[in-house]
Amino acid sequence: MRTPLVAGNWKMNGSRAMAAGLMKDVHAGLSGISGVDVVICPPFVLVPQCFQAADGASIAVGGQNLDTHEPGAFTGEISAEILIDAGCEYVIVGHSERRALYGETDELIAHKTRVAFAKGLTPIICLGETLEEREAGATGEVVTRQLVAVLDEAGPEIFPQAIIAYEPVWAIGTGRTATDGQAQDVHALVREQLAVANSAGAQSTRILYGGSVKPENAAGLFSQPDIDGGLIGGASLKAEDFLGIIRAANS
Ligand code: 13P
Repeated sequence: MRTPLVAGNWKMNGSRAMAAGLMKDVHAGLSGISGVDVVICPPFVLVPQCFQAADGASIAVGGQNLDTHEPGAFTGEISAEILIDAGCEYVIVGHSERRALYGETDELIAHKTRVAFAKGLTPIICLGETLEEREAGATGEVVTRQLVAVLDEAGPEIFPQAIIAYEPVWAIGTGRTATDGQAQDVHALVREQLAVANSAGAQSTRILYGGSVKPENAAGLFSQPDIDGGLIGGASLKAEDFLGIIRAANS
């Protein structure tokens, strides 16, 4: 069985005050919930604070990105070593905002995945098509291409430890969620593609859905057979909403 996982991606939001309040409330709200893995991915500078606030409890911390070089002269970048030292167990790679706004290619994302995993972080690998790609009927082709790039470079053996997040770009921050069926179809396809490379690992790999997940739509999405939790943007910035989504994953 796959333990559901709910991860909050704060993106470029938050403050020390917000982190203090949210971590306290999430921490308190998690008592009595045992069947879900919870991860918070705050901006880098808030990682140590969130790690401390988690206090060894059931909340893990992740980075939103990493650089692949060995530590050294790379001004402005953050290595896997620094993330781990600050308390991270996870790191998001290949978020569509990094692909679209910062020019990250399938190859670079695959490389980041390999380095993150080799250094001891659990990568949360984001895949997803744009609206144009969906309307052109290219969803399957796009997510397969993105996944195969990772499999080729990082190796199928990173699964089931590594995690996949399917995030249709047209559903991110738009309030427009994929229907339960649309999401399930892509998740099933991703698991099928993964099974070609690693049949045992594919069945235990967690595939998260991301894109306008809210407490109101989470239960329907999470009840799908191949949806194993969520990668949550906006709704992870409010403890009550984030907890509502975690509760939906626990039921
Ligand atoms: P929203 O939940 O705000 O749509 O963002 C999803 C996302 O991009 C998480 O990584």
